[in-house]
Amino acid sequence: MLGAFRPARSMELLQRELAERFGCRFVFVLSTGRAAMVVLLRALQAVSEAARYQVIVPAYTCYSVPSSIVKAGLQVRVVDIDPHTLDYDYDRLERCDLSRVLAIVSANLYGLPNDLQRLARIATGAGAHLLDDAAQAMGARLNGRNCGTFGTAGIYSLDKGKVITTMNGGIIVTDDDRVAAAVARQVQHLDRPTTAHTAAEIGKLLAYSLLLDPSRYWLPARMPFLGLGETHYTVAYPVELYPAVMGGLARQLLRQLQRYNGARRANGFFYRQALYDVPGIRLITEQPGSDPIYLRFPLLVEDPLERERLLARLRAGGLGGSSSYPSSIVDIADLRGWLGGIDDDASGGRWVAERMLTLPTHPLVTAEDRRTTVTIIKKSMGRPV
Ligand SMILES: Cc1ncc(COP(=O)(O)O)c(C=O)c1O
Repeated sequence: MLGAFRPARSMELLQRELAERFGCRFVFVLSTGRAAMVVLLRALQAVSEAARYQVIVPAYTCYSVPSSIVKAGLQVRVVDIDPHTLDYDYDRLERCDLSRVLAIVSANLYGLPNDLQRLARIATGAGAHLLDDAAQAMGARLNGRNCGTFGTAGIYSLDKGKVITTMNGGIIVTDDDRVAAAVARQVQHLDRPTTAHTAAEIGKLLAYSLLLDPSRYWLPARMPFLGLGETHYTVAYPVELYPAVMGGLARQLLRQLQRYNGARRANGFFYRQALYDVPGIRLITEQPGSDPIYLRFPLLVEDPLERERLLARLRAGGLGGSSSYPSSIVDIADLRGWLGGIDDDASGGRWVAERMLTLPTHPLVTAEDRRTTVTIIKKSMGRPV
């Protein structure tokens, strides 16, 4: 509750606790993960050569990523992914001309760590930065190290549907003195959201906490203001500081991070074991040495029409399957004109976009929800249950 009464002090404590948890010296908390990425990209640009203005993103990731790059005034360059891992197709990435590249952005989608050491080596070797995007992977680790901390700097998100949420929020972490100074220079000119805006956010947060119960999944359709499960491309969002009155809540949630992630992991392991040999379903190959947190459990349905049928059945059963992002980054219509080059046909990203299906893993998913989900999937795929 400290956040509500002594906001400045609670923000100080939040920053300190985040720094301790992720083992980083510098932490900045902004209004959203998008805002954090905009500020971070501008800071990376401020400490780099002017000739570097391109940012590499994987062909399949959240639309917020290219939107932040465009908002930061930089050029988006797309490199395809490997559908087996959802990580970059490293053969393609290593063939790219990186001489104009400011940063390569990781994805760590659904809390599954990318090959972050390799990515950091490629970026550093080319004189560019790795921006380790752990918006979906707070608490996931690779070889014992936190996702988000492998690059020059990283981000986390406190948005809806993330590991922990205060409705909105974005975090920058870095150990780099120059980047931290460049971020600090920008942050001192940013405003905090208005009290009215924050009050509205608290109202939405209460509505959201009700929705997490699987029996209420049908509700979001009636609460469009939450925008749950929707993906739009837009650059129309403010770049502001985090509302300090939320600081106390963020600290409380941070203390629960391990517990929440434990539940997500258990649900993820269950799905992995139950679905690994279902014909027509492919699971994602995880990076050796990784400790994923399964923000959602991703699977690929080889036949796109079957995926639609499966999604409809899961929805009818009151279970929260999602098709995730509607297209590859290369097919976002509003992004045309901002793309600095597609290094290939993005066939991997496009293939995944048509076949991705993610299952909820959050702590309120019950053993019965999981069993019903698996039964629906197996029956749909013609597999005995
Ligand atoms: C991979 C990835 N990066 C960045 C973001 C941006 O975070 P936010 O929603 O807090 O703006 C998101 C969130 O949707 C994301 O999934």
